[in-house]
Amino acid sequence: MSNLTPARWTKPSKAAIAALLLTAGVLGAAEPDQPPRTKFEAARIAAAMRVVPGELNPFELNPGGRGTLHRPTPGPELFKHPLTGMNDAARMDFVLGQAMFEKLWVPAPSSTKASDGLGPLYNARSCAMCHPGNGRGIAPTGDGPLPVSLVLRLSVADPLGDPQGIQDYLATRPDPDLGTQIQTDAATGFTPEAQPGVRYSETPIAFADGQVISLRRPIYDAGNPLSAQTMVSPRIAPPLAGMGLIAAIADADILVGTDPEDTDGNGVSGRANLIPTPTGPALGRFGWKAGVASLRTQVADAFFHDIGISSPLFPQGWGDCTETQTACRMALHGDDDPRGTELDAQGLDLTLAYVTGLAVPARTGATETLRGRDLFHATGCATCHRPAYVTERLPDDPLRSFQMIWPYSDFLLHDMGEGLADNRPEHRATGREWRTPPLWSIGKTELVSGMGFYLHDGRARSLTEAIVWHGGEATAARDLFLHMPKPDRDALIAFLESL
Ligand code: HEC
Ligand code: HEC
Repeated sequence: MSNLTPARWTKPSKAAIAALLLTAGVLGAAEPDQPPRTKFEAARIAAAMRVVPGELNPFELNPGGRGTLHRPTPGPELFKHPLTGMNDAARMDFVLGQAMFEKLWVPAPSSTKASDGLGPLYNARSCAMCHPGNGRGIAPTGDGPLPVSLVLRLSVADPLGDPQGIQDYLATRPDPDLGTQIQTDAATGFTPEAQPGVRYSETPIAFADGQVISLRRPIYDAGNPLSAQTMVSPRIAPPLAGMGLIAAIADADILVGTDPEDTDGNGVSGRANLIPTPTGPALGRFGWKAGVASLRTQVADAFFHDIGISSPLFPQGWGDCTETQTACRMALHGDDDPRGTELDAQGLDLTLAYVTGLAVPARTGATETLRGRDLFHATGCATCHRPAYVTERLPDDPLRSFQMIWPYSDFLLHDMGEGLADNRPEHRATGREWRTPPLWSIGKTELVSGMGFYLHDGRARSLTEAIVWHGGEATAARDLFLHMPKPDRDALIAFLESL
C-alpha cells in the first residue's frame, strides 16, 4: 500500500522555503530557523497524517481537531457553534462576539450610540447579512441585480509600486472615484454608488461518456460607468467555519508547499501571496486570493469596507468614501463619543473571538465514501487541496493548539486558467490566480445556505460544475474528471459531500 500524500509535503524543499523567506523577509529571519516542531515530531506527524487507500485515517473523523462539532442538530445553524470544549470565559466572549457579528448598524447620528456609524456608503448593515448562518453568501440564481453578498472589488494599477520590496509584487490602489469596492447602499441623503448586475451565458460541456452539463459564464455590469483603467473582481462571501484553525497553521507549514518553478514537474506550482503590513511583509491566507494575512485585519477590513464602520485598525469614520466623494467624507460619523472609533478595540476583539472560535462540523459518511476519497487523491485534487496540517503550539488556546486539522487546501495561489480569471491582481496574486479554497464542510453548504453555489463568484451551481470550471494548473485533474466513468464521478462527489 502506498502513501497517497504527494511527495512535496512529506519532503519539503528547504531551499525553496529559505529562498522565499529571504527574498520576502517573511518572519523577519535570515533563515527559517524556527521549524514549527522538532524532527521527531515532524516524523510522528507525517506518520499520523498518512492516507492509505481503502483505509480511514481515524483523524479524518475530526476535521477540526479536538474542537470538532459532533452530533449537532443538522440545520442552518450548523456553522454557528463554538469549538467543542470551549471554557466558560471564552464562551462568554464568543456569545458577545456573535452579537457584534449579527448586530444591525444604524447611520449616525443616532440615539443608539453604540450601534451608529453605518456607512455613509455601505454594502450591508451586518456581517451576518453577507455570511448568513456563517455559511457562504447567497449567489445569483439567474440574470439580474447582484445579491448583497456578491461584491465587486475595484482597483487601478499603482505606478508607485510596492513599498516593501516584495518580489513579483503587483501594486494596485483603490479606484480614485469609487474606492475599494462598489457600495450598493447608502445612508439617507446619500446615493449608493451603483446597482451592479449580472447575466449568464451557457456553454455545454460533454463528459467522455456522453453526459452533457452546462456551465454559466457570468458577464458583470458594474451599473456605473467605470474608467478604462479600473479592474473589477467579483467576490462572494466564503463560509466561516474553522477560520481560527486556519489562522493557527504555521507560516512555514504553508510555505513548504510552494513550488513556483514547478521543480517537481507535476504541472502545479503554488505561490505564496505576500502582503505589506505595518510590521513588514506577511504571508496572506484569507480571502479568495489570499490577500489578507491576519484574521484581525480581515475582520476590521470587513467592518470598514463592507459596513462603513471604523475601528482602531481603520480609524476613518467615512469607510470607503474617496476624496472625490466629499459629501460622504464630511458627513456626521459615529466616532464622536467615548468609543473613539465607531467600533472600539473591545468590539473588534469580541468579533474576532467569535470568528476564531467557530467549530468545524464532523464528517458525515466518511467510511462510506473512502473510494471517492481515494479518487480525489489519485486524480491530483489533493495536490492543491492539501488534506491535513498540525497547527502551531498556542499555549493559551488548547482547542487550537497542536491540532491535526483537515481543511483540504494548500492556501497557495494557482493559475486557474482564462475561464476563471478576473484579470485583477492582488498583491502577488495575478489576474489568473486564486487561492485554493478549503473544502472542509463544503458538503454542508446546502444545509446552511439553502443553495449549493460555488467558486469565487458563486457561478458553479453544483460541485460537478465547480470541478469542470478548473483550468490552468488544474487542467490535468479536470480532464481526468471529465474522463471518469459516471460511478467514479459520483463517488468523488459523494466524498466532497461527506466533508
Ligand atoms: C458585503 C458583504 C460582506 C460583509 C458585510 C462581510 N463580509 Fe466577510 N467576506 C465577504 C467577501 C466577499 C469575502 C471574500 C473577500 C476576498 O476574497 O477578499 C469575505 C471574507 C471574509 C473572511 C475570510 C474568509 C476566508 O475564507 O478567508 C472572514 C473571516 C470574514 N469575511 C468575516 C467577516 C466579518 C467578521 C464581517 C463583519 C465585520 C464580514 N465578514 C462582513 C463579504 C462580506
Ligand atoms: C491546481 C490546483 C487545484 C487542483 C489540482 C484542484 N483544485 Fe479545486 N480549486 C482550486 C482553486 C484555486 C479553486 C478556487 C477557484 C475559484 O474560485 O475561481 C478551487 C475550487 C474548488 C472547489 C470549489 C470550492 C468553493 O469553496 O467554492 C471545489 C469543490 C474543488 N475545487 C474541488 C476540486 C476537485 C474535486 C479537484 C480534483 C478533480 C480539484 N479541485 C483540483 C485549486 C485546485
